[in-house]
Amino acid sequence: MTTHIITIDGPSGSGKGTLAAKLAVHYQYHLLDSGALYRLLGLSLQQKGLLVNIQDEDVLKQSVTIATNLDIQFQSQAAQTKIVLEGHDVSQQIRTEEVGAFASKVAAIPELRAALFQRQRDFAQAPGLVADGRDMATTIFPEAIAKIYLTASAESRAERRVKQLQAMGLDVKMSDILGNIQARDQRDTERTVAPLKPASDAYIIDSSQLNIEEVFKLMTGFVDEQLAKP
Ligand code: DC
Repeated sequence: MTTHIITIDGPSGSGKGTLAAKLAVHYQYHLLDSGALYRLLGLSLQQKGLLVNIQDEDVLKQSVTIATNLDIQFQSQAAQTKIVLEGHDVSQQIRTEEVGAFASKVAAIPELRAALFQRQRDFAQAPGLVADGRDMATTIFPEAIAKIYLTASAESRAERRVKQLQAMGLDVKMSDILGNIQARDQRDTERTVAPLKPASDAYIIDSSQLNIEEVFKLMTGFVDEQLAKP
């Protein structure tokens, strides 16, 4: 049986996570939230006191071993996924700005990206997978049947992020969030390893002026077209 892979890449706050989850339900495919893997690794290395000295050769070696063997579980529960790191429920914690910064640091290190490569590939199981990230189409699943690149202006992404964090009960300032998003975009697009960019054959959607339903319609239209090809 063929395993169909749909990739959704793009910057933070473009709505990727929500849309990827919706597509996975719609097509009854598995879901990979690759950003969560980087967040989990960042959190684990921070908790072990390794992230601060990650440039050190021995620390990096130790961190690669940790990345390869990272003890994580994605437990589906009704509409949500509980994320467990080394026995602790970190579903909420990994979504904080602080852990986002740890993830971004981890994501810039080629050896750590390589250590997560096979773990991501292992998510590809029949009947299909929706993979959400930055380099899903360019690096991890170049064979994907439908490659989508979802973007939005930094301002509209910051607005959405503020609402999301406020809904989680966190007290946040728009200017801080916008600053974080711009800094992260710059790091993610300018890094030499797996920089954030659309695959040459990606379908690009700008969601700045679109709601979730409108983006979903564009995506399913595109995916259905790709799936119907002989
Ligand atoms: O999508 P996110 O905000 O959860 O991602 C967290 C960080 O991990 C972000 O800085 C980008 C990085 N990342 C990456 O480099 N490659 C991926 N496939 C997914 C995330």
